[in-house]
Amino acid sequence: MTTDMRELLLSRIRDVSDYPKPGVMFKDITPLLADPAAFTALTDALADMCARHGATKVVGLEARGFILAAPVAVRAGLGFIPVRKAGKLPGATLAQAYELEYGTAEIEIHAEDLDGDDRVMVIDDVLATGGTAEASLELIRRAGAEVAGVAILMELGFLGGRARLEPALRGAPLEAL
Ligand code: PRP
Repeated sequence: MTTDMRELLLSRIRDVSDYPKPGVMFKDITPLLADPAAFTALTDALADMCARHGATKVVGLEARGFILAAPVAVRAGLGFIPVRKAGKLPGATLAQAYELEYGTAEIEIHAEDLDGDDRVMVIDDVLATGGTAEASLELIRRAGAEVAGVAILMELGFLGGRARLEPALRGAPLEAL
């Protein structure tokens, strides 16, 4: 991705202070999604990562990850697999709990969506503490597939997500645009 493209993406991410609670600076990607040039550049860059790392499937993390991963899957010619918050998938699922700042959360995947021939690229908008991405890698491996990498629009470096995710990556790439 060129510096100009990166600047374009950055310019379309809006900082919203004190959302969803006081003291939090929310990174709002809706202006980027509303700009076809920016959304297309982002989709192309993420699809390129899928090709470079030999992905056979794209996993999107609910909910904003779905918005990015679905067009990437189409662009890359790959299947899209949703990782959903617990209780939303109708079929037989694998579930993985993970730690939040306060309490725990759980995500699920349809067990039959992946097999031993798959190499999976995980796509999401934000890497914050890394808990969601870490749990998704666990699900992918439990489903029998290999991790091709993790592709993120924004990494909030001060929250230490990369360090938390590092062991779970087992050498797979983590790329943040
Ligand atoms: C956000 C974001 C990532 C996750 C990152 O999702 O989209 O999926 O948090 O946080 P972490 O690295 O600390 O795990 P969230 O569930 O808050 O909202 P969404 O459903 O709107 O995507």
